[in-house]
Amino acid sequence: MEPGKKKSIDASIKKHKSSAKSLIAVFQDIQKQQGYLSEEAVRYAADKLKVPASRAFAVATFYSAFSLIPRGRNTIDVCLGTACHIKGGGRIAERISRHLQIKPEDRTRDGRFSLHTVRCLGCCALAPVVKVNNDIHADTTQDRISSILEKYQ
Ligand code: FES
Repeated sequence: MEPGKKKSIDASIKKHKSSAKSLIAVFQDIQKQQGYLSEEAVRYAADKLKVPASRAFAVATFYSAFSLIPRGRNTIDVCLGTACHIKGGGRIAERISRHLQIKPEDRTRDGRFSLHTVRCLGCCALAPVVKVNNDIHADTTQDRISSILEKYQ
């Protein structure tokens, strides 16, 4: 890991008082500064906070706010929660995967998009829901995928 990145993690740990409880706050800082949580960064922060690596990775993968891959310029979250699943969320995710030629939790080669699946975006009445950056797309259909994605450069 680059010395500058280690230095910023050290500063975050110091700011959050080096306690095991500060793991989430430190991860938030890393996510904000580096755009994602690299495996190296998770291990480094866990080691510094004296938290088992297994617990650190459990925290890093539990919260959808954290990404273990570099995010694209545009982040796509396809909801696969119960309401969205029933209304075809899985097929929407597959369609986006085919359209972008990437699997969920991956990023396009040009860095334009990263695709993620989430369990509930909190707006179940609008199912099936796709969120791109901060935009919620309601009642999404497979036919609308191309036109939705064209808006994001
Ligand atoms: S299940 Fe998709 S928004 Fe709640």
